[in-house]
Amino acid sequence: MSKVLINLVQNCRQIIIDCPGPEGREKIANLLTNLLSDPTNVDTLVPISTGERELLYEDPDIGFCILAHNYDGAKTTPPHDHGPSWAIYAQARGATIMHDYDKIEDASIEKIGKVRISRTYSLTPGVAHVYNEGDLHSPTRDGPTSLIRIEGTDMSKVSRFRYELA
Ligand SMILES: [Fe+2]
Repeated sequence: MSKVLINLVQNCRQIIIDCPGPEGREKIANLLTNLLSDPTNVDTLVPISTGERELLYEDPDIGFCILAHNYDGAKTTPPHDHGPSWAIYAQARGATIMHDYDKIEDASIEKIGKVRISRTYSLTPGVAHVYNEGDLHSPTRDGPTSLIRIEGTDMSKVSRFRYELA
């Protein structure tokens, strides 16, 4: 692991232990904003050779994960939450248009939930945003983008409900 990643892991661990709720996540988001303001850190954490999803670190005790993402072109993800987890999106290169949603109808295994857009904003390099448990959002990328995400748990192992616009 690079020194910058080791430092990030240690800082995240300490913040989550001291402050496991939304307040601690805002602290981690601020940490990422500072970190990604330095292009050297961006190139170390998300080299341009990064794939669409690379797990940089999974904490063996607390379970949080640090992921690097690099998208070569346009990419839109449908509305989703992160199930039982939280997530922080920190933009490293390019821009992500983010929609937040209000839930209109619950989802279940059998049924797609309904949502309505509540807010649209742009994540630009150095901007980090916290999505707490149950927060619904969808990222749209019109061109190449890179980001760091930190999740409370490895969401690739968690099944999620689907949502669509009401
Ligand atoms: Fe997400």
